[in-house]
Amino acid sequence: MKTYNAYDIFSEFYDEFIQKNCPDLHNKYFKLVNETLDKYNLKPNSILDCTCGTGILAKKLKDEGWNVQGLDINSNMLKKAREKGLEVFTGDIRNFDLKQKYDFIFSFDSLGHIAAKEDLIKTFKNISHHLNEGGIFIFDGGTKSKALTMINNTYTFDSDKYSFIWKNYKINDRIQVEINIDIKPNNEMPIKVVEKFELCGHDVNEIEEALKETDLTINFITTDPLVKTGSFVCCCRK
Ligand SMILES: C[S@@+](CC[C@H](N)C(=O)[O-])C[C@H]1O[C@@H](n2cnc3c(N)ncnc32)[C@H](O)[C@@H]1O
Repeated sequence: MKTYNAYDIFSEFYDEFIQKNCPDLHNKYFKLVNETLDKYNLKPNSILDCTCGTGILAKKLKDEGWNVQGLDINSNMLKKAREKGLEVFTGDIRNFDLKQKYDFIFSFDSLGHIAAKEDLIKTFKNISHHLNEGGIFIFDGGTKSKALTMINNTYTFDSDKYSFIWKNYKINDRIQVEINIDIKPNNEMPIKVVEKFELCGHDVNEIEEALKETDLTINFITTDPLVKTGSFVCCCRK
């Protein structure tokens, strides 16, 4: 069975999966973004969705008239974002260089992919490098205790063209994710593939420590379940 990286095949049915399993997630992110813009009285001329994935949130913001671009490491996810009419770039949040700056940057549902402390610091420094003075960066993440609750969990998904069994295993302090996917061509035997990747949780003090190494100042950081239970949301200003 062929093994793929995170989202290589999942990208094909990511939007359908979100629609079926967490249909309100991006509405909550949309609300959070709008509340943040209101709170800081921001009218950003330029917005970057770092880790935009298939561009669900970026598209909602674009439809509201905001000038928003996206960045993601996975070209298959970006293909889906481009199909929504979004301008997006391939890059790794730890070291991308778009040679332009933004008034507002956000990154949602993605920090679990950044495990090492040095990578967190690199990510925050790089995002700061892409912010205009006074610009705002908002992101979320799952706490370590939330990550612990996900260990050994299994999730399933089924649609006309795809089905999967998603299993989480513990390796050291991280989660090894294995998604066994069946691709179902018309009237033929399913093609079986597997995607493997790691996820991790972050505690708020880790985030605070990493941000201290940058020129970003924390406006607020909260473990209130603003978006998803066990998540934190952090908002910083350059
Ligand atoms: C769960 S998806 C969330 C996508 C999008 N933010 C959303 O809310 O729908 C996580 C995304 O993070 C991206 N990602 C993971 N590691 C990354 C990295 N080092 N640099 C850029 N993007 C990354 C993945 O390719 C994927 O699209």
